[in-house]
Amino acid sequence: MNPLRFLWGFLLLALIAFADEQTDCNPLNKTCPADPALGTEHTWWLNSTLDDSLWDMATGTPEYTSDGAEFSIKTENGSTLLESNFYIFFGVMEAHVKMAKGAGIISSVILQSDDLDEIDWEWVGYNTSGVQSDFFGKGNTTTSDRGGNHAVSNADTEFHNYTTYWDQDRLEWWIDGDLVRTVNYSEPLTVYGKNYPQTPCRVKVSCWPVGLASQSIGNIEWGGGLVNWTNLPFTMEVQKIRVKDFHTAKEYTYSGHTGSYDSINVISGNSTAKTEIEKTPAKSLSDKWDDLGTGAHIGVYVGAAVAGALAIAGLVWYCIRQRRKGRLERALAEGDENSSATELDALKKQWRQSDWNASYTPLKQ
Ligand SMILES: *[C@@H]1O[C@H](CO)[C@@H](O)[C@H](O)[C@H]1NC(C)=O
Ligand SMILES: *[C@@H]1O[C@H](CO)[C@@H](O)[C@H](O)[C@H]1NC(C)=O
Ligand SMILES: *[C@@H]1O[C@H](CO)[C@@H](O)[C@H](O)[C@H]1NC(C)=O
Ligand SMILES: *[C@@H]1O[C@H](CO)[C@@H](O)[C@H](O)[C@H]1NC(C)=O
Ligand SMILES: *[C@@H]1O[C@H](CO)[C@@H](O)[C@H](O)[C@H]1NC(C)=O
Ligand SMILES: *[C@@H]1O[C@H](CO)[C@@H](O)[C@H](O)[C@H]1NC(C)=O
Ligand SMILES: *[C@@H]1O[C@H](CO)[C@@H](O)[C@H](O)[C@H]1NC(C)=O
Ligand SMILES: *[C@@H]1O[C@H](CO)[C@@H](O)[C@H](O)[C@H]1NC(C)=O
Ligand SMILES: *[C@@H]1O[C@H](CO)[C@@H](O)[C@H](O)[C@H]1NC(C)=O
Repeated sequence: MNPLRFLWGFLLLALIAFADEQTDCNPLNKTCPADPALGTEHTWWLNSTLDDSLWDMATGTPEYTSDGAEFSIKTENGSTLLESNFYIFFGVMEAHVKMAKGAGIISSVILQSDDLDEIDWEWVGYNTSGVQSDFFGKGNTTTSDRGGNHAVSNADTEFHNYTTYWDQDRLEWWIDGDLVRTVNYSEPLTVYGKNYPQTPCRVKVSCWPVGLASQSIGNIEWGGGLVNWTNLPFTMEVQKIRVKDFHTAKEYTYSGHTGSYDSINVISGNSTAKTEIEKTPAKSLSDKWDDLGTGAHIGVYVGAAVAGALAIAGLVWYCIRQRRKGRLERALAEGDENSSATELDALKKQWRQSDWNASYTPLKQ
């Protein structure tokens, strides 16, 4: 095996494991890694592959068309989940969406923080003339009196502009330029601010089935009954998403465990997201090749031949060394690789389940 590839594999696993742990960490209980900020404003058109350093397709695979990205449930009990790797600490989220149609199917675009503050748009698949607004503070799902219902025409066949405006004083839901709902920081519904969403959030886009026998009766009713799986696939489509962070920060950290906005440290600097967004698109390899002259081409060929010879020599040397190192040591190294892969799987499962339970299951009871 190529030693470099081996090393990269390890590094990648370690990085993914780290990213997962971060998602897992609830700052109300623990000291968690910093949340990388968006720190700017940007519009993503979903007619071409999203930058995977900014967005993570945690479940499922999107299909990009000239209209936008399709998020489809293609198999029984399947679901999709796209999430941003960046966070905003107050800001605007504008999504242009066609909901998935079908009883028991939920399309959602939400902002969610590490301590489970949440601001939602949710489309319930049996009703193509409406959308629901909702919010949660610190994962408090003891009551479900916070939801709002709003009329939209042909929500499954037409893109509409669903915009959330969020600052420390108020929360607003806008549809196609009309303000349809406001929640103030301090009112009974927010338990006078205590359950007002107020910590750095990331964007999550999901199409998922609530109409499953394993769900509570309340949830099944909310979704309009059990999913009829003969009608697969169920497809939600997103044309574009604009996200604006109200801070031009590098990252956000929690000080203490209150989860209140004044406990959030705004670390200044350029965010990696901003740097990534602003970098000029990389030239393709063949463009770069064409940019070089003939002389340079010949030089590159010669260089490549020398490099190839060196690489072969290196490989031979490496193989001999590996043989000397002995079977046990190699077996241990391989065992390590396997066990971290298993651990990673377990972590992901655990996180998805907890995420699922925390954010969705108890929504409507
Ligand atoms: C803190 O952690 C405990 C156990 O890990 C959990 O039961 C509890 O719900 C957590 N509290 C919060 C506020 O997340
Ligand atoms: C995506 O849509 C935008 C806006 O219409 C357009 O500028 C861009 O060229 C499109 N990209 C692709 C790959 O079609
Ligand atoms: C769909 O939602 C809209 C807006 O809340 C509501 O007016 C309408 O009655 C709902 N339709 C059904 C079939 O529940
Ligand atoms: C959770 O929300 C309910 C109703 O909104 C409220 O009565 C309760 O005090 C909240 N619990 C916490 C821990 O904030
Ligand atoms: C979407 O709605 C928001 C809120 O009204 C508005 O600021 C924004 O300009 C709208 N976007 C488009 C593309 O019209
Ligand atoms: C929210 O605050 C505004 C003024 O800032 C007020 O006009 C409005 O009635 C409040 N809404 C609620 C639901 O308390
Ligand atoms: C889907 O989930 C239900 C439980 O809600 C289960 O009974 C069923 O066997 C699952 N189907 C598949 C194909 O996994
Ligand atoms: C499921 O959908 C199919 C096709 O639309 C229909 O023929 C069938 O009756 C539906 N099943 C149930 C239980 O509604
Ligand atoms: C942020 O990036 C800009 C260029 O885009 C640069 O001028 C500035 O020095 C950077 N700031 C920090 C704190 O690195």
